[in-house]
Amino acid sequence: MTTDSGQQRIGIFDSGVGGLTVLRELYRQLPNESILYFGDTARLPYGTRAASEIVHFVREIMAWLIAQDVKMVIMACNTSSALAMEMVQAEFDIPVLGVILPGAQAAVQQGKRIGVIATPATAASNAYRNAILEMNDACRVWQVSCPAFVPLVEQNRIDDPYTYEVAREYLAPLIQQRIDTLIYGCTHYPLLAPVLRSLLPTGVQLIDPAVRVVAAAARELELLGLRNPGNALPTRFCVSGASQQFAELSVHWLGCTPAVEKIALPTVVRSPVSIESAE
Ligand code: DGL
Repeated sequence: MTTDSGQQRIGIFDSGVGGLTVLRELYRQLPNESILYFGDTARLPYGTRAASEIVHFVREIMAWLIAQDVKMVIMACNTSSALAMEMVQAEFDIPVLGVILPGAQAAVQQGKRIGVIATPATAASNAYRNAILEMNDACRVWQVSCPAFVPLVEQNRIDDPYTYEVAREYLAPLIQQRIDTLIYGCTHYPLLAPVLRSLLPTGVQLIDPAVRVVAAAARELELLGLRNPGNALPTRFCVSGASQQFAELSVHWLGCTPAVEKIALPTVVRSPVSIESAE
């Protein structure tokens, strides 16, 4: 390694702009850290894909991030965290944090009747339900799959009356169950906060796992002696799809237009065939 490890970037990734909600938290809590952001925009949404596909995408992204010499990876995507955490921990030798456990932990500290809004893949994985019940089996958990939200956010249709209409439908069963806490089980959803807030009863606590995952990252960097002793470099933004489109969309959340590079991920063979067995 040529640079001081502390000066290396933290790699974060999502399918699209959802990870910007984690990036915002990184800027707030760890302003001295340099970040590499990757959005797999050519293949979003992840949440309606098969588990095996998501695992494969994450494997490719991890290989690329490590080749960029990052010191830590934050999966700024619930779908990836729910489906690919085990694979990542087994296959990659680098500190990696996902959003599910920090989100579940924050929720059990807040309430007992917990709603989770998530992508279809995250909801079907039961990752949040299992994590919450493991932490406190007295909690009740209701999960709602919200397939329309990610496309609406990626099309910047936050204020569209249709967004309010689908949100009302998604939240209805949770409101009926009188939840006291709601987890944003997808990093795109905090961008819908004004819509969701306007529809939820005032007492419902909203949990953004980004706040907790970044706090956990800060602790881990400290423990590993990996904090950046200097100042942050400008964030490097990379995407697999159209760079201009990502730049135009993210300006709403970043407050400035980022320079965005389009990159090609390395191809990782799906099921490696050993030379012996191929002969
Ligand atoms: N933002 C991601 C998540 O947290 C992925 C959304 C998607 O691409 O479906 O789940």
